[in-house]
Amino acid sequence: MVGVITVEAMGNVAHAGFACTFPQELYARRRAAFLDAIVRERGGSADAVAIFASAPVYTRNNDVDHDYRQDSDLFYLTGFSEPDSVLVLTAKDRKATLFVRPRDKERETWDGLRAGVDGAKADFGADVAHVVADLPIELPKLLENNARLYYRLGRDRAFDDKVFAALDRTRARARMGVSWPVDICDPSPALHEMRLIKGSEDLDAMRAAAKITADAHVRAMAETKPGMREFQVDALLMETFRREGSERTAYANIVGSGENATILHYRAGNRQVQDNELVLIDAGCEYGYFASDVTRTFPANGKFTKEQRAIYELVLEAQEAGLAASVTGSTLDGIHDLCVEIITRGLVKLGLLKGEVPKLIEEGAYKPFYMHRTSHWLGMDVHDVGGYYVGGKARPLAPGMVLTVEPGIYIARDEDRVPPEWRGIGVRIEDDILVTEQGYENMTASIPKTVQEVESACA
Ligand code: GLY
Ligand code: MN
Ligand code: MN
Repeated sequence: MVGVITVEAMGNVAHAGFACTFPQELYARRRAAFLDAIVRERGGSADAVAIFASAPVYTRNNDVDHDYRQDSDLFYLTGFSEPDSVLVLTAKDRKATLFVRPRDKERETWDGLRAGVDGAKADFGADVAHVVADLPIELPKLLENNARLYYRLGRDRAFDDKVFAALDRTRARARMGVSWPVDICDPSPALHEMRLIKGSEDLDAMRAAAKITADAHVRAMAETKPGMREFQVDALLMETFRREGSERTAYANIVGSGENATILHYRAGNRQVQDNELVLIDAGCEYGYFASDVTRTFPANGKFTKEQRAIYELVLEAQEAGLAASVTGSTLDGIHDLCVEIITRGLVKLGLLKGEVPKLIEEGAYKPFYMHRTSHWLGMDVHDVGGYYVGGKARPLAPGMVLTVEPGIYIARDEDRVPPEWRGIGVRIEDDILVTEQGYENMTASIPKTVQEVESACA
């Protein structure tokens, strides 16, 4: 068994990119498991080749690029973080071929060291490696005499073209007696089924991400004061993430003060946090390419008002019920329905909705206040891969799955169906939950959450 590499053990392998990742044997096991899966799904036929391309580089302007992050599928199978790379897996000989950028003194002077062909083999488990410029020559050969090509069409049109060109070249050699892939299959179901069930190494990384994220939220609660601007709160989060070894956020941090807390994907802006206001922070870091995703809502001055507290306690009741239901056999739909029921019942009790609870639920009367789903898968991507429905039915939870539970109530500033004192209150509470054999593990449980805990963390 191998664990995630900690900050202390990161070493200084410059060409390995950011180093909080796993030892190579794990990636080899994943490649083998993927090949087993695509062979199994066709009754034992190994007549298959799979292609995974790196994430494209996006130009920001002139010679400046947007921050680069490797494609999650390619990283999951290689740990390789450089752009312009392609992994080809051939099922018959069970070989991994990596296409990579060549070593290049001048480019490395500007952009940093590259693994190159030798590094791809020595450090990234490639059985065979080529420079990526040779893809048009080498890829057709790898496709030869394979009936099935596993490649995810449609995500990167420029790369799709390279695959089509290779297919065409292979087909053109038919008169020499070679056959070509006639069956184009999507590798996503097989690979994403693997990514959905987290292994112990994945969980090490997720717990590391959760721990850093917890520290950032606790610090934000303690240090946010009326008068600070949202971007200054954001800076506290970012400083904690980076200092503790996270390479980047798992998504853009959300820091909403006052009525901005009612905007679901608001970004930290210029607004000054006011006394008597709530601050909603939805922020999670990435560690070793695994995400965390946490929301806490707290009073800027350390004390909830009566209305804020009533909404907060209602969201908390829904969230705790959602957590308790995050066990084997439950479904995300079931968890959502439970939260909707608690929130609707609570809004009626507070006088913010009027009518019979079942009818209000049926009519969706809660939707102006609770307009998003309660849960999503969490993993390498914040809204992670893996089927939500199987055979048209909501998928039952199983050990190894990780989900968020994140109910909220958002009362818009111009919501004139409720009395003015309720307007502009936004509350969401979100934790990262691992389904276990025994029940569940809340990976972000250490972050203050009850009214008392939050008020003392803010004091
Ligand atoms: N931070 C995005 C989400 O909670 O889904
Ligand atoms: Mn979130
Ligand atoms: Mn989420």
